Amino acid sequence: MPASPREIILGIGGGIAAYKSCDLLRRLRDQGFGVTVVPTPSSLNFVGSATWEALSGRAVTTSVWESVDQVRHVSLARDAEAIVIAPATADLIARIAAGRADDLLTNVVLASHCPIALVPAMHPDMWFNSATQTNVATLRSRGYFVMEPDEGPLTSGDSGKGRFPSTEAIIEALDQNLFVKKDLLGQKVLVTAGGTREAIDPVRFIGNRSSGIQGIAIAQAALSRGADVTLIAANVAENISNAIKTIKVESAGEMLEALSKEFAQCDYLFMAAAVADARPQEVSKSKIKKSEYQSIELVENPDLLATVSAKKSQQVIVAFAAETQDQAIEVARSKMEKKRAEIIYLNNVSAGEIFGEQLTKGHIIDSSGGIREIGSVSKSTLAHELINSAISVHNKLG
Ligand code: CTP
Repeated sequence: MPASPREIILGIGGGIAAYKSCDLLRRLRDQGFGVTVVPTPSSLNFVGSATWEALSGRAVTTSVWESVDQVRHVSLARDAEAIVIAPATADLIARIAAGRADDLLTNVVLASHCPIALVPAMHPDMWFNSATQTNVATLRSRGYFVMEPDEGPLTSGDSGKGRFPSTEAIIEALDQNLFVKKDLLGQKVLVTAGGTREAIDPVRFIGNRSSGIQGIAIAQAALSRGADVTLIAANVAENISNAIKTIKVESAGEMLEALSKEFAQCDYLFMAAAVADARPQEVSKSKIKKSEYQSIELVENPDLLATVSAKKSQQVIVAFAAETQDQAIEVARSKMEKKRAEIIYLNNVSAGEIFGEQLTKGHIIDSSGGIREIGSVSKSTLAHELINSAISVHNKLG
């Protein structure tokens, strides 16, 4: 079969989820990709070559010792726009992280220069094993996109994190992380994420419900589009790619210090963090006994965004607002103006939409009067939408 304008390699690891990749293969072909399937030898125990040949319309080889005259590992690696490995088993992840080349697939990976995505599927005990987690972190730090497995029932009868995600979720993740244009190359993107904590005493603090998922999704999306990304993270529990320069902070004061240092160099600021508006006037050095509690005197924190944006030059600023009231759009618009942001994402949280969720809905409002409704999308999709809007403002500013 002749090469398609868009060629990808679908690598198949030796796990039961291999059969689910038959559907993934069909969907990739529906999207116009020419797909060459490269199964590992052990994966053929689950799905045989005949199935892959029928579904891809191409010959399938698994070993470097077949078609030796064609130097398949080099030609396949050179022609592919991207490599998707689904399922990626713990062993396959380990072999790739170690730079091994003991079958055709790992040879192709080692010889390639294109973006590579892995879709892990394994028992949760194997996924959470520190060996696997270290290998995943290593691959992420080298720029591989490693998708998070799903949670739920597994073939073993157990339940937990390790399931192969749905075809739709994989396609969405690939669209956003693998097949994206590198339109932020050479740009510096600064993101704040999470919720600040204001100490009351060594044990207690005033905090908020922000999970950091949205800010991290923006940092990840900007990274996938080629940006040099710095993330100022306040108390987030999520995993962060090693390719993102991360500055961990706790309080609004620490966040302001980090932000003030980083702001001047950035081209874009996404201010997704939920910053505490006030802090206890005094922080007790020892744990306060319940008998000692009367009240906590608060003092206002500075507005971090307003403080740094007063010194803005070329930066495009995206602010966030979570509102519960009726006049939310007007309130968000006036916050955007007051804080000198070009864009604000208004998250309507009045109907109980709660922090920590994977989906978000709201409005993207810009300073030239534009407003666009965003209806229940993943935080990663919103991240790309906000980046699109920010790039278009940046291009207009010249
Ligand atoms: N923000 C900030 N510093 C603060 C408070 C908020 O930089 N002390 C930023 C947030 O990161 C967000 C935007 O300002 O991008 C709007 O946050 P929000 O809490 O909605 O704004 P406030 O000005 O604190 O308004 P409110 O009185 O509604 O809390």
